[in-house]
Amino acid sequence: MHTQVGIIGGGPAGLLLGHLLHLKGIDSVILERRDHEYVIDRVRAGVLEQFTADLMTQTGVGARLHQIGMRHDSVYLSFGGRRHLVPLSELSGGKAIYVYGQNEVVKDLMDARIATGRPLHYEVSDVSVYDIDTTRPLIRYHAGGAQHELTCDFIAGCDGFHGICRPALGDAVTFYDKTYPFGWLGILAEAAPSSEALVYTCHERGFALFSMRSPKITRLYFQVPPDEDINKWPDDAIWDEMLKRMTTKDGWKPNVGPVLNKNVTAMRSFVTEPMCAGRLYLAGDAAHIVPPTGAKGLNLAAADVLLLARAFTEFYKYSNSGLLNNYSETALQRVWRAQRFSWWMTQTLHLSPEGNAFDFKRQLTDLDYITSSKAAMTSLAENYVGLPMDIEF
Ligand code: FAD
Ligand code: DHB
Repeated sequence: MHTQVGIIGGGPAGLLLGHLLHLKGIDSVILERRDHEYVIDRVRAGVLEQFTADLMTQTGVGARLHQIGMRHDSVYLSFGGRRHLVPLSELSGGKAIYVYGQNEVVKDLMDARIATGRPLHYEVSDVSVYDIDTTRPLIRYHAGGAQHELTCDFIAGCDGFHGICRPALGDAVTFYDKTYPFGWLGILAEAAPSSEALVYTCHERGFALFSMRSPKITRLYFQVPPDEDINKWPDDAIWDEMLKRMTTKDGWKPNVGPVLNKNVTAMRSFVTEPMCAGRLYLAGDAAHIVPPTGAKGLNLAAADVLLLARAFTEFYKYSNSGLLNNYSETALQRVWRAQRFSWWMTQTLHLSPEGNAFDFKRQLTDLDYITSSKAAMTSLAENYVGLPMDIEF
């Protein structure tokens, strides 16, 4: 078998890349290790930047986003028992964020892929890549009890942080890594959201975040140690801690309801430079990880694959490798800006076990400054809604 672009990983990055390539008439095969339901059911991102929402809309996969997604024109920062509104749209020339679960994004992209009839294989195993320094790189994998070989013009490594593509880049890459001394305990609850906007809380007991998925479902997180055992947290204890951290002096608090799902995620910042070797190109979490506080991971994955789709299009249309050669450098500029912002949001809002009372006072002062200076608040808004990105390709 041969394809133009062999895509390893059928998460948001792999599916979106396959979709964009299809629109340009470029063949691809998507190989995904898990089954279809597992990929849909994974509860992860919830916030799309304006650019990601625009890209979905413009490429014909935005119908449900506009039906059931929620446009948010502002967000709250909560500290000292008070919520402070950050008017995102007003400060960013009309841009907004969209609360739309990663599950829904993945469903939309899967449906689009299936409608094209192009290959999307689930439950493949033992995926490995060869000959990336030649013009005929090869992917080997097992599926349906048989061994398969797929030659490609290019391979796109969209297989997330624990995939096989990053290690296959070889020795000529540098990794930049930072781990944080905390993680997030996240729940989905059957409770109507009690606020129209998301609430990021910096509290003396630690960070907490109020979000949502629909008019009936609330999504909440709070900071815990990175290796926290979720079994130590019965639902009542989770609600008790959520309410302690989130309740504000005006009496605002999240509505309580049955917990539908709970898990713990560790947090890290990680960048691979360059994001390619030979004809293997990484995109999304395979190349970089951000702590979720800035809501950037899925959006960065979308930005990477847009650049990659543009570069492949230029290669096939004009036999020009210029954009492919510049892919890593171009992508990394946005990646590092998102890294900076995600790190900054994280260290400003979380309580570090390595910090002291001085650090906490400094964080509160940072938040006080941001919410009282239009210049500082504008900087937060322009980063949170997403830095400019041209969606033409
Ligand atoms: P993944 O989603 O990890 O997909 C990779 C796929 O590759 C997976 O389906 C995996 O099964 C498959 N795979 C792995 N290895 C192989 C292999 N060997 N062969 C074949 N397939 C393989 N981002 C935001 O933008 N906004 C948010 O609000 C946000 N909130 C988040 C909240 C939490 C709690 C977490 C954990 C993350 C959040 N993120 C957010 C980040 C976002 O979820 C990720 O950045 C996003 O999933 C990256 O997509 P991806 O396709 O690059 O990687
Ligand atoms: C959600 C996740 C985030 O990482 C974030 O910063 C905001 C919201 C969410 O899951 O809704």
